[in-house]
Amino acid sequence: MSDPIPLARPSLGRDESDALAAVIESRRLSRGSQLAAFEAAMADLTGAAGAVGVNSGTAGLQFALQALGIGPGDEVITVSFTFVGTVNAIVHTGAGVVLVDIDPATSNVDPRALADAITPRTRAVVVVHLFGRPAPMDTILALARRHGLAVIEDACEAAGSRYQGRAVGGLADAGVFGFYANKSVATGEGGMIVAHDERVLTRCRQLRNQGNDTVTDTRDESAAGFSARLSELHAALGNVQLARLDRSLALREDVAAAYASRLAGTRGVELPAPAAPGDRIAWFTYPVRLPDAASRDRVFATLRARGIECGRYFDPVHRLPFHLGRHRCLPLPITDDIGARSLGLPLFPEMTPQQIERVCVDMAQALEA
Ligand SMILES: Cc1ncc(COP(=O)(O)O)c(C=O)c1O
Repeated sequence: MSDPIPLARPSLGRDESDALAAVIESRRLSRGSQLAAFEAAMADLTGAAGAVGVNSGTAGLQFALQALGIGPGDEVITVSFTFVGTVNAIVHTGAGVVLVDIDPATSNVDPRALADAITPRTRAVVVVHLFGRPAPMDTILALARRHGLAVIEDACEAAGSRYQGRAVGGLADAGVFGFYANKSVATGEGGMIVAHDERVLTRCRQLRNQGNDTVTDTRDESAAGFSARLSELHAALGNVQLARLDRSLALREDVAAAYASRLAGTRGVELPAPAAPGDRIAWFTYPVRLPDAASRDRVFATLRARGIECGRYFDPVHRLPFHLGRHRCLPLPITDDIGARSLGLPLFPEMTPQQIERVCVDMAQALEA
């Protein structure tokens, strides 16, 4: 068998090794200058007042929601076509989850479905920039403003994405990034909340550290808090990767363009739309749609047998065992259709033309079988 092709592969080199060695040399493994620098850089990237590093994107979403006052008795609207962490974060706040359908053109939330889901109990919307593609924030923010809802951007897959020229994450009340190993900024594990309101930032810092914000030296009297800090080693990796983000997104764009031109006209393969004018997609995977669930599963299995890792991105959350029947769901026909036949193809900055060719050839063979 040829060399395996991973779904994602972080770009790690000498700079990362040196940064990790410097942290080890410093003997400062937590709450140090690397975290402060990483937080400052993320606030700078997004135009936010500040940022709070945490140990996962899911924890970041939960803390952002809680810091915005969301809890039991409230309803939070989001999509079912997302990584399960989006919904788990809402569940952990005690709020009710409301799931709405997506726009088939973008796989992001359909703002009309969002409008239909609002009730007097609705307090917030979690907007996912899925696969690094910016969601239609202007429409969503206008709707949220009319109904007095908080908006949290789930930018876990979208570091560096731009909506109408502006960095995602900083467009709403709070934005959350993820740094799991498959992300454009990959620290192994980790996340970051960005926000414009100092009270929200303080509350997030309290929640990540047993209720105690060591930056403002304030304690949260209403909640015990969690243990969800981001270590200096992770932050050091984040600083190196963030400095390279623009270059790495350009390489990802090249891979996406190569897939698009290679697969154009391939029977049975629907390609993702290019970025809308003014937007930048931080390509996280190359998400194609196949004719139906059977062909998607066949392609997935064939590619895996040939050493090519793909993602069934995403099994809709409302169909996952824990979530089945637990949430208020509006009609989800597009989510059900696309969720069953969507496949994430490998995409990473150092992907070679030969690897792209292999993925395309093997996919075409599997489709014809
Ligand atoms: C859309 C989305 N939301 C939330 C998360 C949660 O991030 P984490 O795995 O760091 O908890 C992820 C990523 O992994 C994601 O892709």
